[in-house]
Amino acid sequence: MKTIIKMKREYFLSLVFVLTGVSTMISCQKDLGTIEQAASQAIISDVTITRYPLFIPPTITTSNFTLTASPGTHDLGGGTITNVWQYNGSMPGPTIVAKKGDVISAVFQNNLPEPSIIHWHGMLVSHANDGQPSQVIPTGATYSYNFPIINRAALNWYHPHPHMMTGEQVYDGLAGAFIIRDAEEAALNLPSGKYEVPLVIRDASIDQNGNLIYKPTGGGFFGKIPLVNGTKSPYLKVDQAVYRFRVLIGATSRIFNLALSNGAPFILIGNDGGLLPSSSNQTTIEVAPAERLDVLIDFRQLAGGTKVMLKDLNSGWDLLQFRVSSNPVAYNGPLTTSSSIQPLTNPVTTRVFSFDGMSKINGKVYDVNRIDFRVPFGRTELWQFKTNGNGPHPVHVHGASFHVVSRTGGRGKVYPWEAGWKDVVMVNDFETVSVLIRFDSYKGVYLLHCHKLEHEDNGMMANFEVY
Ligand code: C2O
Ligand code: CU
Ligand code: CU
Repeated sequence: MKTIIKMKREYFLSLVFVLTGVSTMISCQKDLGTIEQAASQAIISDVTITRYPLFIPPTITTSNFTLTASPGTHDLGGGTITNVWQYNGSMPGPTIVAKKGDVISAVFQNNLPEPSIIHWHGMLVSHANDGQPSQVIPTGATYSYNFPIINRAALNWYHPHPHMMTGEQVYDGLAGAFIIRDAEEAALNLPSGKYEVPLVIRDASIDQNGNLIYKPTGGGFFGKIPLVNGTKSPYLKVDQAVYRFRVLIGATSRIFNLALSNGAPFILIGNDGGLLPSSSNQTTIEVAPAERLDVLIDFRQLAGGTKVMLKDLNSGWDLLQFRVSSNPVAYNGPLTTSSSIQPLTNPVTTRVFSFDGMSKINGKVYDVNRIDFRVPFGRTELWQFKTNGNGPHPVHVHGASFHVVSRTGGRGKVYPWEAGWKDVVMVNDFETVSVLIRFDSYKGVYLLHCHKLEHEDNGMMANFEVY
């Protein structure tokens, strides 16, 4: 490392001299530290950045478990941060892996200095198990969950849901993946074991003392660096094999437009609600907080030593570097998938929800004690989400998944990664997004909200009752 830095310095010096001439040499040298840093990053960014192995959170594979939220410290790879909040000492929290039909019996232990509750995002559970703002527990208390898994195979996740504090608690590190398996998925023989990798992508800002900084405004929070699975500047060694990546956008506000640096496509097979009706190759995929992707990447044709970067085209960030090793691994699974998904038809009611300003739905700020509307159990409805500004609003519904049927205005189309079952959909300024939804799992009170967590915390959330 030392040698590389020295080489760069000499390279930089000669560059400065050529560009500026001898007369300005002295003044240049004064600011050399800063200029050199900036220039070296710009000129040879790949060489200057030290990369760290991608953290893979521990897994929980039993259906009885405890998740304890507490303050802790976290190794970013290139340094330690001291003010994170974690589930079971891990950031992201442990990856829970369970099967459809399992009965989960989980205890949440709140060792945070403030109230919290765990919500199982994407899971079809009863009101008592949903972890809503009305169910927060104080410091030192526990909450017991007990629910059967009725969802199909999918990547869901868990995170806190206390009113006005969700953004900060998630930002501080409280979020984890929840993978559900089922027979349909198992029959496909998709990449598994070390060839199936969860990627929790988010942003963060870290001060000089190594502490996380969270200074949101009503418009959101945009961190200065990306973290993947809590690792800064990560790399992952990959074999010449097909990998399956389970992607969760765990940021509070930021929209990511994912692409691979070699122009290769993602083989998109699934999203929030599991496998898509049909897979497709996509070179870019734009996703908002709380959305999930299930993608295959085929590294089999790449030479050993090749480096491929997972990038965010919106920020220009390098998210994760894949380092291909010379180790060919045969793959017998599919490179295309399909799944038959029953469409929802004949909606009995149309409801329009306007996401207003940075804190309201249909003109109202969230009130934990107010039920804003009532929805009959087992009936298909058409819900229209629209906004006149302050988007994108990633709109999320508890208690059911939905089908996106149209987007008018704005981007004016439905994207391939919005097919199948969704529980979050991005609504940009001047768009109207229509979805078909049917609550046929449980009756009870659920939530509709913006998943830009700063908007949610400001009150862009509504209670409704399925009856
Ligand atoms: Cu991921 Cu109500 O939330
Ligand atoms: Cu949710
Ligand atoms: Cu919003």
